[in-house]
Amino acid sequence: MFVKELHIVNFKNIAEATFAFSRRFNCFVGNNGAGKTNVLDALHQLSMCKSYFNLSDTQNIRHEEAFFVLQGKYEREGNEIEVYCGLKRGQKKVFKKNHKAYERLSEHIGLLPLVMIAPEDVSLIDGGSEERRRLVDGIISQSDRDYLHALIRYNKALQQRNALLRASDGRVIDPMMLEVWDEQLVSCGEKILKGRMEFVGAFEAFFQRYYELISSGKEAVSLAYKSSLQEGQGMQEALKAAAEKDRILGYTSVGIHRDDLSLAIGDYPVKKIGSQGQKKTFLIALKLAQYAWLYQLNKVKPLLLLDDIFDKLDAERVQRIIELLGQDMFGQVFITDTNRQHLDDILKSQEVGYKLFFAQGNGSFVE
Ligand SMILES: Nc1ncnc2c1ncn2[C@@H]1O[C@H](COP(=O)(O)OP(=O)(O)OP(=O)(O)O)[C@@H](O)[C@H]1O
Ligand SMILES: [Mg+2]
Repeated sequence: MFVKELHIVNFKNIAEATFAFSRRFNCFVGNNGAGKTNVLDALHQLSMCKSYFNLSDTQNIRHEEAFFVLQGKYEREGNEIEVYCGLKRGQKKVFKKNHKAYERLSEHIGLLPLVMIAPEDVSLIDGGSEERRRLVDGIISQSDRDYLHALIRYNKALQQRNALLRASDGRVIDPMMLEVWDEQLVSCGEKILKGRMEFVGAFEAFFQRYYELISSGKEAVSLAYKSSLQEGQGMQEALKAAAEKDRILGYTSVGIHRDDLSLAIGDYPVKKIGSQGQKKTFLIALKLAQYAWLYQLNKVKPLLLLDDIFDKLDAERVQRIIELLGQDMFGQVFITDTNRQHLDDILKSQEVGYKLFFAQGNGSFVE
């Protein structure tokens, strides 16, 4: 799958731009603040129906303007697909495939798979467990609707249970009232736990392979699922055991919403001992593993968006990443960098086609 053309109007700092892309590498070079990341975010919008950066939709409209429009021409398994995303201030976002508006945006997600790596993602390593759960849940949900539904039901039950605990304000609660929610938490929670454990077990090998390729086997790394339940304890039992504590705290303190994915170099958490370059390598290997996972599942090569990923990596690692991305397993790749020489040198040594786009500093680009 690849995008042939992208047309942008009034998206962030880009007043108007049109790109005709290479099927392989597309590189955006230019100074800070020139609009390179904004182009990647436009592609993210067209695949995932939202910005990568958790902004509200209207924040993406160019200042002082009334609307933005993004249009992409894609080719997927021999078929041409035109995607349109438009937003006017004060109105609902319009999203169209081949000139027909979607009723629900969720119908679009998955059609144009995409994996993005941005500097902000280092919070996956350094941040709290929520980010790592979101990564795991996101990957599993893409291929398992039952899992996604269990997750939605679990979160609803959790909200209700927490609301009940909060409202009781530390007073005794009728156990029957909690039990209604406990039942849902248990049945959905067990399904989610099973899904996550199986996923992490299989995904680790993908991850280790990419880490080894990038670091040339210098470090032994691992992933492990860390349950918040005690060894051998079932979810029902855990909820019962924590009931008194939950009543005082005013929220549900055990369950799959407290679990984590532990990331380690040797025997130590990468968060504590990893150098900046090692953390970055960890992040890139995780995301490339995600790419490989999606590709294996859907047999469609996702777009790969690499925002500023070479910063903090030594020349050897950068070289190996580019060589890796040159292999057939990868398709269309988008790279941003502030340093042209950097990219020129590496790309010239490759046999694959590429295009360079220079950001002019005012939201416009030239080839
Ligand atoms: N809604 C908006 N309207 C106008 N300009 C915006 C809007 N949102 C963001 N910008 C501008 O976009 C610019 C940032 O663009 P972008 O993040 O793409 O830069 P970049 O080329 O990736 O830079 P860096 O090399 O620092 O990562 C900033 O100057 C910011 O002020
Ligand atoms: Mg940027």
